[in-house]
Amino acid sequence: LIVVVDFGGQYSQLIARRVRELQVYCEIWPASAPASRFREANVSGIIFSGGPASVYGEGAPRIDPAVYELGIPVLGICYGMQLMALQLGGAVERPDRGEYGKAVLRLAPGEHPLFRGLGGETQVWMSHFDSVVRVPQGFRVLGSTENTPVAVIGDDGRRFYGVQFHPEVVHTLQGREIIKNYLFNIVGCKGDWTTESFIASQVEAIRRRVGDGQVLCALSGGVDSSVAAVLVHQAIGDQLTCMFVDHGLLRKGEAEQVVRTFRDRFRIKLVHVDASERFLSKLKGVTDPEQKRKIIGNEFIYVFQDEARKLGQIDYLVQGTVYPDVIESGTGTAQVIKSHHNVGGLPKEMKFQLIEPFRELFKDEVRAVGRTLGVPEEIVGRHPFPGPGLGIRVLGEVTPDKLAILREADAIYIEEIRKAGLYDKIWQAFAVLPDVRSVGVMGDERTYAYPIVLRAVTSEDGMTADFYRFPWELLERISNRIVNEVPQVNRVVYDMTSKPPGTIEWE
Ligand code: XMP
Repeated sequence: LIVVVDFGGQYSQLIARRVRELQVYCEIWPASAPASRFREANVSGIIFSGGPASVYGEGAPRIDPAVYELGIPVLGICYGMQLMALQLGGAVERPDRGEYGKAVLRLAPGEHPLFRGLGGETQVWMSHFDSVVRVPQGFRVLGSTENTPVAVIGDDGRRFYGVQFHPEVVHTLQGREIIKNYLFNIVGCKGDWTTESFIASQVEAIRRRVGDGQVLCALSGGVDSSVAAVLVHQAIGDQLTCMFVDHGLLRKGEAEQVVRTFRDRFRIKLVHVDASERFLSKLKGVTDPEQKRKIIGNEFIYVFQDEARKLGQIDYLVQGTVYPDVIESGTGTAQVIKSHHNVGGLPKEMKFQLIEPFRELFKDEVRAVGRTLGVPEEIVGRHPFPGPGLGIRVLGEVTPDKLAILREADAIYIEEIRKAGLYDKIWQAFAVLPDVRSVGVMGDERTYAYPIVLRAVTSEDGMTADFYRFPWELLERISNRIVNEVPQVNRVVYDMTSKPPGTIEWE
């Protein structure tokens, strides 16, 4: 096990992903983790992340100094390097200027195992104010840049290393080699953590845990719950029942696709609950976005409970929880902007034990597992879709008529994006139906109809996003098709707002 210690840097998750891409399993731990936890978990190597603080700043995160006594190798990155230098008796200072952006790293003569195969110079990416000015006893300087004389430090005896640059970002051209060298040459990792080995060990673990118990999975058709269902089915077959609650707020053809895939193709026991009327009647006359979200979230739980009760004894519930939901971050939690509700979320009153096979995986790793298990690309590669579905994309009151308009427009939009080969370049693309109408003219006749808003964004994690730059010709084709093929739409607009200040969804 490799542990990435999170000092609040924006790149902790990126470091973890780089390590896992090298087929080495790793976890992200908070800086407050005591040395005993490292010992008990049999940690073989540690990476300290960067962080926004200055090592001398008030409340700057520290690591338990006993960690340095465990005999475990450490690679400190940026703040992590400075902290290590300081805690082991070196000195850190804030010179007149920091260093930000690309820099050339010159390595000390003689090839060091950390830099095997790199040559004497390589481009790295820097982002720091403070610098190490005196190395601790036992350390020597292994590399420098023009503005940062102490850019790499190392103590080969204790296997402690520090790099001032960020090997995890792509602008450090040989960053992957450096991380690989650390893992393979210094720590001695084998690189045998693959999707196949993950699946095999999970199947085994689920079988052992469940015994002859009964398992329920709330299937939304999204990536996480879909792949979880197929994995658990592989482990225990018909002891698994999937429940698919159709709240009537799904996109065109979506419910049919879920049933076809899971019932017909994977032969999974699937209960398809058509609860559209129940949801729509609850949403009647409601226009406030937060209230709509709450109603959909609560109703989902009620329907789920009602239906689960009919199934008799259920011992376990499968959840598609992924690692970013679980990570104990070194920083505080962000403010809640919208009350997110995950279809497939756990009804609090229900007493199940949880099976969460992806608690330790990132989203793209879940996708890789899904591909290995043969889950179709339309599901594995699909854009995120919010739990409340079209309920928050029909702005204002949700009615069957408006849902029908939105479904048609959205289907045309997505079809054209796929045809243009752009679907996989976009984090999320969807249509929104605002609660206004405007005047237009079609075939010499005045129209008074709805506009459709097109939204498409690129993003790493949904926390920030940039609007996608489509070619005009494609937008034109989409606009033409929607106006011509969807009655009651006479105008198409494109949302050119990034997040922040916009959010991805409109409600
Ligand atoms: P916003 O609109 O907050 O969305 O920028 C960020 C990401 O979250 C998705 N989203 C949701 N996902 N339940 C979900 O499972 C929800 O209630 C929900 N609301 C927004 C949104 O689609 C985007 O990917």
